[in-house]
Formats: sequence, C-alpha cells, structure tokens
Amino acid sequence: MTYAAITGWGKCLPPAVLSNADLATFLDTSDDWIRTRTGMRERRISHVPAIDMAAVASARALACAGLAAQDLDLIVYGSCSSDEQVPNSASGVQVRLGAHNAGAMDINTACTSFLYGLSAASAMVRAGVVRNALVIGVELISPYMDWDNRNVSVLFGDGAAAVVLQSSEDELGVLGEHLGCIAEARQTLRVRGMGCSYANQGVQYGDTLWDFDGQEIFRRAVKGMAQASEKALARCGIATEAIDLMVPHQANLRIIESVAKYAGVPMDKVFLTVERYGNMSAATVPVALVEALEAGRVTPGATILMPGFGGGLTVCSHVVRWGDRVTPLGTSAAELPPNERTALELVNAIRAQRGTRGASERGLMAPRFAEAETPPGFTANRG
Ligand code: ACO
Repeated sequence: MTYAAITGWGKCLPPAVLSNADLATFLDTSDDWIRTRTGMRERRISHVPAIDMAAVASARALACAGLAAQDLDLIVYGSCSSDEQVPNSASGVQVRLGAHNAGAMDINTACTSFLYGLSAASAMVRAGVVRNALVIGVELISPYMDWDNRNVSVLFGDGAAAVVLQSSEDELGVLGEHLGCIAEARQTLRVRGMGCSYANQGVQYGDTLWDFDGQEIFRRAVKGMAQASEKALARCGIATEAIDLMVPHQANLRIIESVAKYAGVPMDKVFLTVERYGNMSAATVPVALVEALEAGRVTPGATILMPGFGGGLTVCSHVVRWGDRVTPLGTSAAELPPNERTALELVNAIRAQRGTRGASERGLMAPRFAEAETPPGFTANRG
C-alpha cells in the first residue's frame, strides 16, 4: 500500500496585528464582548496579496521537507479569497517557487479548503498519480470584509500555511476522513458581492454584504464536526481515546469546546490558536498544525484529528498519523516584504475605499439571478 506522509510544514502570518481595542475604534463592540463570545483577542491583516503569503509558507514547507521545488508534482491551493479567478492561484505559487514540473489547481470549499485539498492530494499520491504534493491553506479575507458589520468583522483574520505530502510505504498521513456538506443550510453564510452573480451590476469589486446567521452556523458546525469526526474515526477503526491531539477549525472557542465535548476529546488534547489569529478560514487548520509542531505538541507517531466546517456548509474531519520526524530538515530565507502600516491603518484604508453602504442603498447587492433552491426538473431532497 502507498500512503501520503506529511513531511514538510510551513506558515506565513502577516505581521500587522489588529486587536479587539482597534476594532472598538470604529465598531460598537468591546474587548470583553469579543473575548467572552469568541475567545479572540487579535487577528492578522495582510499588506500583501494572498499568493505572496502562500508562496512564503510553501517555500518554508519545502525547506522543512528537504525537497526542491522542481520535485513537486502537484500544487493544491485551498482558499475562498483568491487574488484572481483567472489565472488560478496555484499557478502563481508555482511560478514563485519555480516548481515547473507541477500541476496546479485551486480548491474552494470555504474554511475547509485546506482539508478538502489534503483529501484530494493524498488520494492522488495514494493512487500513484503524483509522488510529491504541496497543499496550501491561505486566506486574505480583509479586502472582502464588511468591516462595519460587527457580527462578522470581529471574527476573521488573514494568513497562510502549507504542507508537503510524499509517497510512502509506511502507514502515514491521512488514514481516514469524512467529507460532507449540509447544503440545506448554505444560505446561513453568503458573501454578497463576491462572484459572477454581481459582475457588471454597478457594484465595486470588494464591496460586500455578509448574510450571516451566527447562531445557526454555530449549531450546525458543532453537530457537523462532531459527526464527521465520529465517521472518520470509524472509517479507520481508531478509538477516540487513541487521539493524541485535536487540531480543529477555529471559528469560535465555544464551538471548539462543544465539538471536543461531543467527540469525547479532553481540552488538554486540543491545540488552540483562535485567541491570537481569529478565524483565518482555510488557513486556520494548517497554521494551527504548524504551531502545534513548533510547540512540541506533535509527538513522533502521533494520531491527530482535524475537524473542520466552512461555507456551504461543508463539514469534514481527518484522522492523520504523523511520522517519526517532528522537526524541520531545513529552513527557507523566504520572507514577506516589510510592512510600514499598522493593522488599523490597513483596515481603515479598505473601509475608506468601500462603497458598500451606498451600493446597498441603491439596491445593487442582489445577485443577478435569484437562486431557485429547487429549479425546474429537480426534486427537492432534504433526506
Ligand atoms: N460586539 C458587540 N455586540 C455584538 C457583536 C460585537 N462584535 N456582534 C453581535 N453583537 C450583539 C448582537 O447584536 C446581539 O445583540 P442583541 O441581543 O441586542 O440583538 C448580541 O450581541 C448577542 O448576539 P448573538 O448572536 O446572540 O451572540 P452569540 O453568543 O451567538 O455569538 C457569534 C455570536 C460569535 C457570531 C457566534 O454565534 C458564532 O461564533 N457563530 C459561528 C461563528 C461563525 O460562523 N464563524 C464564521 C463561519 S465561517 C467558517 O468558519 C465556516
């Protein structure tokens, strides 16, 4: 049997830190509300395009694996906030790395994009389609954020991380996963303004309004991640007690605590980053995985559970077996260009450019085509 071992890992966090106090300078919110309801104290705001963060994280992951860029057969770029639709973003990382022998594809399942990408790339390695793959989770949410909506703008941050997968005869990497989608709840999270439905409608690109039912997403996320974890563990015949570490998606500390409780994993086995980075969507799980390694929380041979959920509402959970090596083989000199501005200055510059409120008042934030949930010829199936 062939497996897809994780042999390299790297992250890239933009340096500008946006605190809860910064948010309270333009929102009716407080550090106390954000900390007690979400567990978040701060998040990062990027001064560079998403591809640049992804490329730095990828260079670090390759150095960690001791692999040359030319040895990559595949680059998978997981994100819902790509810099451009065409050309795709994976090709932008490829050209920066000089990985000229690789195929390159983007995956968007919102916050689960890294984990779905991990499934796709691992399956290709196991099937022998490719030998060495790079899987990226990256998000640049700040330009699309509806900054004056306190229900959502306090929750998100920017960041990137990547892992290298290599073909192995040892039983390593993803041992089992469950992928699902609670599509009947897809209306609970919609970013109006992103996508072709809004093109040529008089809306400035980047003007967004977020439809966001936080409490409903909360409920669905807890149940969805707990059930996905149960199914993933059952698929590979591993008991919950055998989990050494849980590295979950981090949208809210209370969601994580509830998932851990339902899944039967004690909180001292859960690795948390939500306080420092908020929800970085697709970058959340890989950044947490890299930091768990840096903190010595991933031990040789560890079994790791990685539950996630995202817009769609996509849900998943992955059971991963780690190899013997928990330290990097090498380091990379790749760095982001220096940043001169504070996070608050970066956010206020985005806010100043947005025309959303005006666009909304002019009725421009409706999609071009009203979505029929059950178009003619289809039968609604809620089962
Ligand atoms: N500051 C102060 N008050 C606020 C803020 C804020 N930033 N945001 C909302 N409030 C107010 C509300 O207006 C409401 O006021 P009201 O009672 O006068 O109407 C009050 O706080 C309580 O709001 P709730 O929605 O009941 O707060 P709740 O405890 O449910 O927490 C939260 C809201 C944090 C959004 C929570 O529901 C949550 O985490 N949901 C899921 C998170 C999520 O979906 N993340 C992103 C999904 S994308 C992804 O990762 C898939």
